[in-house]
Amino acid sequence: MKRRDFLARVGAGVAGVAVWPRPLAAQTAGFHPDVELELRAAPAEVPLLRGQPTRVWRYRARVLSGAPAAVQVIPDSYLGPTLRFETGQKVRVHFVNDLPEPSIVHWHGLDVPTQADGHPRLAVGPGQRYVYEFTVVNRAGTYWYHPHPHMRTAYQAYHGLAGLIVVHDPDEAALHLPSGADELVCVIQDRQFDAGNQLVYASGMMMENMNGFLGDQVLVNGRPAAALSLATRHYRLRLMNGSNSRVYKLAWDPSTPVTVIGTDGGLLERPVTRPYVTLAPGERLDTLLDLSAAAVGTRLTLRSLPFPASLFTMQMGMGGGMGRGGRGRGGGRGADRPPVPQGAPLEVLAISVDRRERSAFALPAALSHYEAAWQPPPDVPTRSINIDFMRMQFFLGARTFEMDDVAAEESVRAGSTHIWAYDNSGPGMMMNMRLGHPMHMHGRQFRVLRRTVEPGRRADWQALKDGFVDDGWKDTTLVLPGERVECLVKFSDYPGLFLYHCHNLEHEDMGMMRNYRIV
Ligand code: C2O
Ligand code: CU
Ligand code: CU
Repeated sequence: MKRRDFLARVGAGVAGVAVWPRPLAAQTAGFHPDVELELRAAPAEVPLLRGQPTRVWRYRARVLSGAPAAVQVIPDSYLGPTLRFETGQKVRVHFVNDLPEPSIVHWHGLDVPTQADGHPRLAVGPGQRYVYEFTVVNRAGTYWYHPHPHMRTAYQAYHGLAGLIVVHDPDEAALHLPSGADELVCVIQDRQFDAGNQLVYASGMMMENMNGFLGDQVLVNGRPAAALSLATRHYRLRLMNGSNSRVYKLAWDPSTPVTVIGTDGGLLERPVTRPYVTLAPGERLDTLLDLSAAAVGTRLTLRSLPFPASLFTMQMGMGGGMGRGGRGRGGGRGADRPPVPQGAPLEVLAISVDRRERSAFALPAALSHYEAAWQPPPDVPTRSINIDFMRMQFFLGARTFEMDDVAAEESVRAGSTHIWAYDNSGPGMMMNMRLGHPMHMHGRQFRVLRRTVEPGRRADWQALKDGFVDDGWKDTTLVLPGERVECLVKFSDYPGLFLYHCHNLEHEDMGMMRNYRIV
């Protein structure tokens, strides 16, 4: 793609979004859902800040049949409701697009048939509907849903369209992990507001688009200034990075290790601890917070610790002005304050322990059997996917996104096992254009087998590497500059077209995405 095409793409507004021909998605007679929902995306107003309500785009859901507990609304938030499913359930969702532009919903992390995956070619226009039917085959875990229309995913997600999916299964239930009021969710997103409390999402300068959107404040569960009053108990805390581009290096203050019990694809075999956890856009972590020995009056803060902005920011080799360490006017028109640079310290969640309660919970030493020992078969085919930046475009394996295009090496057999290795190493031409990218694959959970880093990049890499949790199933993994990350994946049995892409949503919309086909 030529640079001027890129400029046209960035400038493309609603009029630039095509509605692609789609297979008819109607409900099927032979499918008997356990849960049937209507999910509507529409403009709304939410009281987020003092004064004027904020205009957002929001999902609302209604249970048409099945357990009412399948939909849990988060009050006074722009986030969509948390959807609770059980493994094995058959789900039908009637998506209604009440937005002024095309959209489609993707179930991030779930293994669903191609017609239910929310590929941009399936987007429906204003006033139209799309019917999803799928069986929940995933393990218990934290998944999420968000829009996936062509080149408008970042814009739509930013304006509020996202929600969590929590899947339960009997194996997990047998562990009696903290639940109900003791199960907390923490969807972390950054946003920027103007003086009238409205969301700012300006396409700033070219180089800032390349780095992705950064806001000036962190919201948790779609609300500002998150604070919780808790008891001296054990809590399960599901963390999710729903930001467009921001990466978090999360740690407790006062310093205490983070106990991780699960990753994108469900519980680990056994709990692990980290001094901090690195959470890139699209990733989830299931954690346990033990306050049982805390004194009443204890204060605890979840912070994002500093790390070098250069890991995610384009910079001039000669100290020029383009990258500016992620700072600058990026918020563009209307924003009161400059964005907080990538890697700058942030406060995410404040906790105060305000009451004494007994908690009998003890964290089991064994959580699940997720085939930790799963090793690649000796003849496993390995595909290297080079990450490159040329002519103002990010490339995956020398290609950018085309709606229906699948290369030969992007075609895989149903149920086959491959290593896909994202290779983000090599020189970065005249500017430093090697950025970290959270690489995501639709339809499948994979294992991170190995990370190798170029010697010259080790110093910056050290700043985040102890926060990786590569022990469990993943659908999104951060690939830092200079890194090669080998992912072992057994492809789904559902045939058809699926996506893999960078989950920096601005990068995705710029074409850092490709199809793969299961045959
Ligand atoms: Cu959350 Cu195509 O992804
Ligand atoms: Cu996805
Ligand atoms: Cu990227």
